[in-house]
Amino acid sequence: MEYNIALLKGDGIGPEIVDSAVAVLEKTAEKFGHKFNFTPYLIGGCAIDAAGEPLPKETVDGCLASDSVLLGAVGGPKWDDMPGDKRPEKALLGIRSALGLFTNLRPAKLYPALRSASPLKDEIVGEGFDIMIVRELTGGIYFGERGYRQGKFGEEAFDTEAYSITEIKRIGRVAFETAMKRNKRVVSIDKANVLETSRLWRKIMHELAKEYPDVQYSDMLVDNAAMQLVRDPRQFDVIVTSNMFGDILSDEASQITGSIGMLASASLGDTTRGMYEPIHGSAPDIAGQDKANPIATVLSAAMMLRYSFGLADEADAIENAVDRVLEKGFRTADIVGDSGAAAIGCAAMTEKILGEL
Ligand code: IPM
Ligand code: MG
Repeated sequence: MEYNIALLKGDGIGPEIVDSAVAVLEKTAEKFGHKFNFTPYLIGGCAIDAAGEPLPKETVDGCLASDSVLLGAVGGPKWDDMPGDKRPEKALLGIRSALGLFTNLRPAKLYPALRSASPLKDEIVGEGFDIMIVRELTGGIYFGERGYRQGKFGEEAFDTEAYSITEIKRIGRVAFETAMKRNKRVVSIDKANVLETSRLWRKIMHELAKEYPDVQYSDMLVDNAAMQLVRDPRQFDVIVTSNMFGDILSDEASQITGSIGMLASASLGDTTRGMYEPIHGSAPDIAGQDKANPIATVLSAAMMLRYSFGLADEADAIENAVDRVLEKGFRTADIVGDSGAAAIGCAAMTEKILGEL
């Protein structure tokens, strides 16, 4: 099969890790007899520098015309003082919205080989955990009305959260369907003791739960969830939550796996076109030094093959290659933990993965 993939390398370590994933995709294509055509587009700080805006129209059009999108990371100190609507991060929200990617799947799985990198005690980690966070991605406070106004104490800034029944239902359905293919458990996380949007969220989730009698459903307040993730992560299978809660909890979930450098994500909408990206940021402090861990981006590319192109064997091949590299003890600096391994760089890690493919 032939597929057109838009590459949004972005800033910081973005170019290195995307190049690594492209090498892995090319090797996979060769092995399985496919053809992937890659077209790079600008996004984030590099787009501000080259085109004066973080999300040029050409980038949006290019992504819309592609079969899927692979993204590195955006942002860096150079652009931190830009006004809110000109920041690199705005481009990320813009492209998610333009592509209609309302679902963000963030798997947080403990690799047995990386157990020692997890900050959790052995008795908590047990046999390991495998959590799928289903985060709503194009609504909520990220996209609500915002601005400045005069308030009780003078000038104030405000952001608002709104969720429609339609938005809650469609993300909830993704969570239940995902759970049906996994361990059939869904925990919906909200702040229904305080927020009106959360109360509507909870009501709709309860209605949906009735349609999935095989799924064991429960609600959890977000503060409790933050605690439960480190107290007993094994209780979770699928977590479904709003845009902002999902942002926060997915970083926490990634850290307990040992490294944020390992976690992939898929952003999906109503079509097979998705956007795939590591959940970590652009790590400007190590950019261009061949120190980045490319695994999250490589695994994101595997998710693309699985979710956008339906190429499950190919995705398995990439994931298995990563497993074997870790089993053999190869580590980038972020996942050395107390393994005693000497850290290898981004390029060397890529070579190891290609070797296993
Ligand atoms: C993420 C990031 C983004 C988000 C930022 C960079 C806008 O933290 O993908 O988790 O908050 O969604
Ligand atoms: Mg985040």
